[in-house]
Amino acid sequence: MTNHRVIIDTDPGLDDAVAILFALNSGRFDVLGLTTVAGNIGIDITTRNAGRLLGLLGRQDIPVICGAAAPLARPGIDEAAIHGNDGLGGVVLPEPLAKPHGYAPFWMAEQLRASHAGSVDILALGPLTNIALLLRDHGDAARRIGRLIVMGGVVDDKGNVGPHSEFNFASDPEAVDAVLGSGLDVTLVPLDVTRKVRASVEFVQALRGGVAGNAAADLIAAYFQNGRESRPLHDPCVMLLALAPELFEVETRKVSVDLSEGVDAGALLAGSVSVKIAMSVDAAGALNLLAEGLVA
Ligand code: BDR
Ligand code: CA
Repeated sequence: MTNHRVIIDTDPGLDDAVAILFALNSGRFDVLGLTTVAGNIGIDITTRNAGRLLGLLGRQDIPVICGAAAPLARPGIDEAAIHGNDGLGGVVLPEPLAKPHGYAPFWMAEQLRASHAGSVDILALGPLTNIALLLRDHGDAARRIGRLIVMGGVVDDKGNVGPHSEFNFASDPEAVDAVLGSGLDVTLVPLDVTRKVRASVEFVQALRGGVAGNAAADLIAAYFQNGRESRPLHDPCVMLLALAPELFEVETRKVSVDLSEGVDAGALLAGSVSVKIAMSVDAAGALNLLAEGLVA
């Protein structure tokens, strides 16, 4: 079985960090690079955290490429209350082995042009700013993306920023609008699905043993909502969908994006753009696959 060639666009972030550890440790992805974006916390910290995760696993072969420091047209949203001032809930990881280099939209374009069209997927775990800049400045390269799988939005469930808006989409609604209108093969993984995938205390305990499993256990433990279960494991669901689409039910919906300045900026509305959206998940199957990859 060939590995999935992917670029991970991310704002680590506790759940981003678990998703990245899964991708690296499962052996099922060929990760071309980690491109970073401001989101859960500022760009310097998300970039440093991406490097620290690679440092932990001794993956000097994978570059970190720094991306957008702010959304396209509005200020970012502060998430420090959930992810801590270091973005990793105080979990200590080694320092990065290498300095970040380049500029994410430009670097993505180079990778896409150097690869067979359709052979590289982008797994987007944060605000969509870098992808929108890739589309704006390097449209020819963007059209070579295989699948673009995005954690973002909410459909029938309630929002986690406004009544109907989700953090990644609320952070940069203009970027969401550009990406959804681009004609790329986009699949959204919204809160409706990610809220079903939460770790129990027993799940966390079973991860312990190896380097990746121990770090993931610490990161998820720092992401508990109450004594019984973690907050939703949002971003790992993107990796799981990339690897095992049969665990998800994906529907095509016609949407638009709320571009107002109101509390629901970034919310998905009924509209005219067709997009694939994961609407349900086999949560037990997803958690099993996640654990398998983290302890591999
Ligand atoms: C999304 O927002 C961030 O806080 C998480 O990392 C996830 O990508 C969930 O709304
Ligand atoms: Ca994220």
